[in-house]
Amino acid sequence: MPELHPDVAVLAPLIGTWAGAGAGEYPTIASFGYREEIVIGHVGKPFLTYSQRTRATDDGRPLHAETGYLRVPAPGRIELVVAHPTGVTEIDEGTLVVDGDGLSIEVASTSIGLTGSAKSITALSRSFQLAGDQLTYRVAMAAVGEPLTHHLAATLRRQLE
Ligand code: HEM
Repeated sequence: MPELHPDVAVLAPLIGTWAGAGAGEYPTIASFGYREEIVIGHVGKPFLTYSQRTRATDDGRPLHAETGYLRVPAPGRIELVVAHPTGVTEIDEGTLVVDGDGLSIEVASTSIGLTGSAKSITALSRSFQLAGDQLTYRVAMAAVGEPLTHHLAATLRRQLE
């Protein structure tokens, strides 16, 4: 394993495999439960790699998946770039606060790319809280004509390698 690049050293507690459960909702869809695995890694360069995949709690069918990168362009700032299999790309920027053995991240979209067949998504915001071995997050989106509205909340635990 290469040495962690100093620009992302502050994100070291995120590196690893996380697993847990979440709940999804939106005004236009039926609410659902999901199981999720997130893998965060690095290659010695000034970014972390990020990928997640999910399955429905009720019958185990695959739901959403996404993959991307995290960067720390300046102290206290964070950038997230994500590609979605639904024809969506997401660029988020925001703040990073380190607090003892935890950290918190608040980002909002500055740019969203949509393929011709993608659903209309005009804004996203995400918050992550890491406390020890527990990672929680929330995602809100403005999509399909709705204003910025809660879509997801999940709690994951660090998995031992
Ligand atoms: C844990 C991650 C996620 C899970 C498990 C999840 C799951 C779901 C499910 C089950 C639906 C309803 C059925 C369907 O359309 O497939 C849905 C709808 C939707 N999701 Fe997500 N989603 C996730 C993340 C996201 C993200 C990050 C975005 C935006 C980039 C997004 C955008 C949408 C949109 C636009 C709809 C359609 C709403 C409508 O057509 O009324 N989802 N999601």
